Amino acid sequence: MDYKQLISEKICSTVELEVNFVCGLLEVPPKPEMGDYAFPCFQLAKTLRKAPNAIAVEIAEKINKEGFEKVESLGPYVNFFLDKGVFTKNIVEKVLSEGDSYGSSDFGQGKNICIDYSSPNIAKPFHVGHLFTTVIGNSLYKMFNFVGYNSIGINHLGDWGTQFGKLIYAYKHWSNEEDLEKDPIKELLRIYVKFHDEAEKDETLEDEGRAYFKKLEDGDKEATELWQRFKDVSLREFKKVYDLLGVDFDSYAGESFYNDKMDVIVEELKNKKLLVESNGAQVVNLEEYNMPPCIVLKSDGATIYATRDLAAANYRKNTYDFEKCIYVVGKDQSLHFKQIFKVLELMGNDWAKECHHVPFGLVRFADKKLSTRKGDVIFLDELLAESVAKTLEIINEKNPNLENKEDVSKKVGIGAMIFTYLKNSREKDIVFDWKEMLSFEGETGPYVQYTYARAKSILRRIGEGSGECDYTLLSSKEEFELAKSLEGLQAAIFQAIEKLEPSIVTRYVIEVSKAFNKFYNACQITTAEDSVKNARLKLVSATTVVIKNALNLLGIDAVEQM
Ligand code: ARG
Repeated sequence: MDYKQLISEKICSTVELEVNFVCGLLEVPPKPEMGDYAFPCFQLAKTLRKAPNAIAVEIAEKINKEGFEKVESLGPYVNFFLDKGVFTKNIVEKVLSEGDSYGSSDFGQGKNICIDYSSPNIAKPFHVGHLFTTVIGNSLYKMFNFVGYNSIGINHLGDWGTQFGKLIYAYKHWSNEEDLEKDPIKELLRIYVKFHDEAEKDETLEDEGRAYFKKLEDGDKEATELWQRFKDVSLREFKKVYDLLGVDFDSYAGESFYNDKMDVIVEELKNKKLLVESNGAQVVNLEEYNMPPCIVLKSDGATIYATRDLAAANYRKNTYDFEKCIYVVGKDQSLHFKQIFKVLELMGNDWAKECHHVPFGLVRFADKKLSTRKGDVIFLDELLAESVAKTLEIINEKNPNLENKEDVSKKVGIGAMIFTYLKNSREKDIVFDWKEMLSFEGETGPYVQYTYARAKSILRRIGEGSGECDYTLLSSKEEFELAKSLEGLQAAIFQAIEKLEPSIVTRYVIEVSKAFNKFYNACQITTAEDSVKNARLKLVSATTVVIKNALNLLGIDAVEQM
């Protein structure tokens, strides 16, 4: 039940106001003594030509109080106190009847949302920053789908550019199939670094690299086969990480996909007189908008990253007719996206305003050993494996007899990493700290997982609560606060997609877990009288549904025991 809507309608039957306007004014008071919702009357003084306090008194007197414990005026406010029993009954029954779909909606039906996320570079390691975009993107993907949109997950692989010419040269000189097969990304990284070391001594190498890239662009058989091979082995490695994380994409159209789709864009830019020459390069001047020019063709006529993004945006609009196109990419590319969106707008595409860059912060390491491995890259698959191993150690200590420990450690260990990334607003930097991240206490993934498992174990032990329930028996502060927290899932999801900020749901699930643990400490279940026990079990059961749904939206699997 949407209480804000209900209250607004009730208010509007006492005074002549718009329901939506009233709904927008309703507040949640800071203290429970002031009720569950409050309606401030300041803004009405003019329209209704009365003092705010008098308006509050009048509304409180006239209003239909059904479903409320009381409605009273306090100064210029009307305070609403929900009837706790009715409220709890409504929410618990709703959660239990809707189950997995509780919190969902058909709001976005018929609308497509493109989400460009993860998008690592071929032949380079999948690093901690790519994990950030991967988990944010994956979570937004799920949230948009949950409220009815059709999300399209796009992995805009970095699979084109001069670096592939260098790699082909390096491979032909310093590597072979066997070494590549053994540990693809490390081998490709090794020869790429070697290329740069050698190029410092021998300038002609850069030309060699360029020549190979030209061959690749011209469709040379050998060059294309090697490039395809690098791409295949890299993707195979990336997919291992995606499998661990449970992430998938609808499209792997990377940069190379746009090779034959850039000419028309360049042509269009020319026709619209947007291209100018600058030091031999073709650029779109953006001085007027306080930005450096957007380079479209380099002086040798080659296209670049930006050219491919212009083509990609057009392709996506034509193919998916998106309502929004979201780019989950690090802060350091903010200027790039501002330029791209501006050029799209100058080309006359009014949909350019529906393109959004979703930046995020940096990842740092609290553990000195990790941060001082200078020059050495941290491999994400190793990091994930370490998280799982460390979780297993903790579980071995806390619950040595647990069945399927491996599976549980995997879900909890990986969930803990995802949770860490999604816990704070995305533009904040992350300090990676094993101890904090894996702790069962505090605002962590394992804490929420543990809360869920604990609730599940209560239901296994005592039962799910059967038959008719008298929810008026759940009148304590803790029970009511828990029920209230369960109501907020959908609002949290809508806020999260509005702000493109999954952390709103993460914070939400932390609050639900805290409310549950307070309830569990304050209220006996086993020894309670049958009727009370029944109602409490239903409340526990509803809590598990909400936590599980919220965790799913973050891309985390809940575990039944831990
Ligand atoms: N491959 C790029 C990188 O790793 C990210 C690509 C983001 N998406 C895009 N459409 N530009 O930095």
